[in-house]
Amino acid sequence: PRLLVIHGPNLNLLGSREPGYYGLTTLADINLALARRAAAAGVDLDCFQSNHEGALIERIHAAHEQGVRYLIINPAAYTHTSVALRDAIAAVRIPFVEVHLSNVHARESFRHHSYFSDIAIGVITGLGSEGYLLALEYLLSRLKSD
Ligand code: DQA
Repeated sequence: PRLLVIHGPNLNLLGSREPGYYGLTTLADINLALARRAAAAGVDLDCFQSNHEGALIERIHAAHEQGVRYLIINPAAYTHTSVALRDAIAAVRIPFVEVHLSNVHARESFRHHSYFSDIAIGVITGLGSEGYLLALEYLLSRLKSD
């Protein structure tokens, strides 16, 4: 794929998980909307979710081998903990947009720091599932001008 969307731990529970923060949209709904928008633009997009840090890291390594151009990533709780996942993205040097459904800055202080934001193209936080589509819109326009 040219674009890869990576969802971190517990995002498989979207739709039922703390809907006040994360909404009622399921991960399947989000992935379908992203796949449809990408297909309409003639761009190949894959989505991947895992609850395992190592699996996420290995998917990022594989993305490099597949020639993926850009990532959209919601590292979920690993945002605030994972030097290893940050290092994986830095190693393969695939530019990425960081997305969070909730506004992490309006929540507990341990969510205010991200291991990803300083190496991201940009960050979308607090716009719910629409944040993914806005990130995709941005990357589609980047792909056109590449
Ligand atoms: C999240 C925010 C994180 O703090 C949290 O651990 C998540 C989801 C979000 O999308 O709002 O699992 O990344």
